[in-house]
Amino acid sequence: MTISAPGKLMLFGEHAVVYGYPCITTAVDSRLTATIEPTGDGKVTIDAPGVKDTRFVDGAITLATGEWHIHHNGFRLSTRSPFSGCYGFGSSSAVTVATLKALASVFHADIDERKLFDAAYNIVLSIQGIGSGFDVASAVFGKTLYFVAGGKVIEPLAAGEIPLVVGYTKVKSNTVEIVNMVAEKRKKYPEKVDRIFQGIAKIVDQAKEKMLSGDWERAGRLMDFDQEYLRDLGVSSEKLEALIAAAKRAGAWGAKLSGAGCGDCMIALASPDKRKAVEEAIAHAGGEVVCVKANAQGVRIDPPARLDSAKRAGEAGTTDDQDELFVVVDRNDNILGYKTRRECHHDPSVIHRTVGVLMYDAKGRLLLQKRSMTKDMEPGLWGISAAGHVTRGQSDEEAAHRELKEELGIDVPLTFVKKFITVNDQESERAALYQGVSDGPFRPEASEVSDIKFFEPRQLRLLAASKSLKMTKAAEQTFHEVGIL
Ligand code: PMV
Repeated sequence: MTISAPGKLMLFGEHAVVYGYPCITTAVDSRLTATIEPTGDGKVTIDAPGVKDTRFVDGAITLATGEWHIHHNGFRLSTRSPFSGCYGFGSSSAVTVATLKALASVFHADIDERKLFDAAYNIVLSIQGIGSGFDVASAVFGKTLYFVAGGKVIEPLAAGEIPLVVGYTKVKSNTVEIVNMVAEKRKKYPEKVDRIFQGIAKIVDQAKEKMLSGDWERAGRLMDFDQEYLRDLGVSSEKLEALIAAAKRAGAWGAKLSGAGCGDCMIALASPDKRKAVEEAIAHAGGEVVCVKANAQGVRIDPPARLDSAKRAGEAGTTDDQDELFVVVDRNDNILGYKTRRECHHDPSVIHRTVGVLMYDAKGRLLLQKRSMTKDMEPGLWGISAAGHVTRGQSDEEAAHRELKEELGIDVPLTFVKKFITVNDQESERAALYQGVSDGPFRPEASEVSDIKFFEPRQLRLLAASKSLKMTKAAEQTFHEVGIL
């Protein structure tokens, strides 16, 4: 059984919330998953590759088997997270909540959401020593919440769609250290710091009203005021200020840091017609645009992967991982952020990076590959020698060599040919084309490639003209770009 819990972003009220004032938090649609498989071997096996600190998972297992009296005869717990440690999306809270919920669901413990929140908050607090628990509340309840420390108030806020833009500073911040630094400051200057917290609390209540009435312009102004207080508190940073200023210059209604500060993410509110400009401004100022939607669902049981994907049109039976993160760029190939394969392949306004390789043999013939029937796009059609997507953190050249190895089972020196953009009804790609020479032997990967064949360029022109070789749109465009067709 797989359980998923959402990440979170603080919209208003960070820091003040630690001292009993309210805040507004929203769950984001980037989800951490925890899967439990009973093994019957009496052992507990944990596979949590992205989780740096296993104390949260250990704490959840100890609590469930102790306080909740869960009996088991061995299980394997695997967690996966698209945001582990990155962005400040609250991976510690999400992994605690998802693990507890998974244990309760698999071993039939009757735990309601409030009990789940209290248990997860206790675990997180016992490990971190400090924290309001807003991140735990977001992971459990999801949506957008008006929240008071420790869960004294947890009130869903029917805020509608939030026009949120998120920029990552690429600087990881240490929440516990920053919260402790603020605590020190409060000891030294109690009046000044409490005045700041009272100011923030007023903003939170005004923001609640504006959000409920859908007045995003005013809510944006309130973000600006909140940011002024946070700057006074000493938790902003040059990088945060640069991204915030860039977003504002590009027309955002307002912007602020989100979370503990000193790094992690900034957020902005922007009208739909300004969104693209604001995203580009954040990217140009050195930030990474994080494409997430607010108001995501709280912890939930996910349908089995196959069933889930089979339900989605066009994805049934595909061997391509629909959650893989691709690199989204503007028309000049500047990185704007990252989106999943699924998102990139159903929205032509999202340009994402791909690479292609033209592999010639010693006689100058060009190798083409027939795409396997399990590919999610254009199955069974003939494409260029090797091609694929650039994934997060990968250079074009690395991606080109990887595709060569994966699809054809070879690796040879490659030279860069050119970059261009291809567009069709379903998607837009920024292709980077490379070429190389090899006579093989090739070992095509059966799940990707069903056949390979060398063609004389002249023969290719004839086949293309008579339409007797069914080629992918990208292959046709590539051949035009390099003058083969
Ligand atoms: O850094 P984050 O995203 O975990 O947010 C911390 C928010 C604080 O208000 C500073 C602390 C808290 O626990 O509420």
